Amino acid sequence: MIRDEQPVIGESPAFLEMLDQVSRAAPMDRPLLIVGERGTGKELVAERIHFLSPRWDQPLVKLNCAAISESLLESELFGHEAGSFTDATQRRLGRFETAHGGSLFLDELANTTPAVQEKILRVIEYGQFERLGSSRTTTVDVRLIGAANVDLAALAEQGRFRSDLLDRLAFDVITLPPLRARREDILPLAEHFAMRMSRELGRSLFAGFDPAITARLLDHPWPGNVRELKNVVERTIYRHEAADEPVSDIVLDPFDSPWRPASQTAPKAQIPDPPLDLRDHLNQQEKALAQRALDLSRGHQGQAAELLGLTYDQLRGILRKHGLAGR
Ligand SMILES: Nc1ncnc2c1ncn2[C@@H]1O[C@H](COP(=O)(O)OP(=O)(O)OP(=O)(O)O)[C@@H](O)[C@H]1O
Ligand SMILES: [Mg+2]
Repeated sequence: MIRDEQPVIGESPAFLEMLDQVSRAAPMDRPLLIVGERGTGKELVAERIHFLSPRWDQPLVKLNCAAISESLLESELFGHEAGSFTDATQRRLGRFETAHGGSLFLDELANTTPAVQEKILRVIEYGQFERLGSSRTTTVDVRLIGAANVDLAALAEQGRFRSDLLDRLAFDVITLPPLRARREDILPLAEHFAMRMSRELGRSLFAGFDPAITARLLDHPWPGNVRELKNVVERTIYRHEAADEPVSDIVLDPFDSPWRPASQTAPKAQIPDPPLDLRDHLNQQEKALAQRALDLSRGHQGQAAELLGLTYDQLRGILRKHGLAGR
């Protein structure tokens, strides 16, 4: 089977311990949960689990639950029959069916509705579900590997994630340590990404990082973890043209420039804490926004209506209600 070999790099105790756990869990035909901050390598670990499992020669199907709207996720997972909803012109297999015999990696599991979570639980327990628009039960054999970068246990306590599903997934939970907790891995990873990028640029040589750069790599807190490190290193190598000299300049923030345009983000609206009278509060907001639109359009009511996405008559009604109509 041909696949793009992704080496897994790391030698820190925390990382090696995690890899041990992966090797123990991979051959077990049980669901698994991978948790960790963004960019820590959850998808890479999911692939490793699949390829170390007896299902390695069967499909590994991946889906990011946050990348699909709530309404489409159910059909994406479980498939649908023709005509089951407006856009469903043909029968379509869901990811569970495509993954039959293999593994299904569901990223960002927290982004699922309770109804979908319940259906997922039933597939894990009994291998059964119905396609949307069908009353016939479909049976599949799929190993589920879930991932989350939020605290699912806390969400379950708050009633925002089904605890029965969490219990089932938590047969084993693999927690990926953030990069700041395994600083021994920073340089091996940086060198790996640097060499790969050099090859990609057709350079025969990577002359290493000079000591000042090494120190900066080690000092940076890497909130975006391995993905951030990879991006920083690739950009640095790409900008470093004297390939036979060690890298002596690094760009941690590509937007850093004296000419950077000023931030345009409006200050966040203040949300007051209840108790308050909601109707009264909304009325005041409405009045203030109408007033603001009038000011911006210098009293031109047609323009003010347009600014607020209202018809002229709707705006007139609002102005009258708030005693602003006389202008
Ligand atoms: N230990 C590692 N060795 C080599 N490459 C790694 C390692 N960990 C992560 N990477 C690389 O870093 C990038 C991010 O990893 P990955 O996509 O698996 O993270 P993630 O935890 O799924 O992130 P997110 O939460 O944003 O989805 C990928 O390009 C991956 O190949
Ligand atoms: Mg991911």
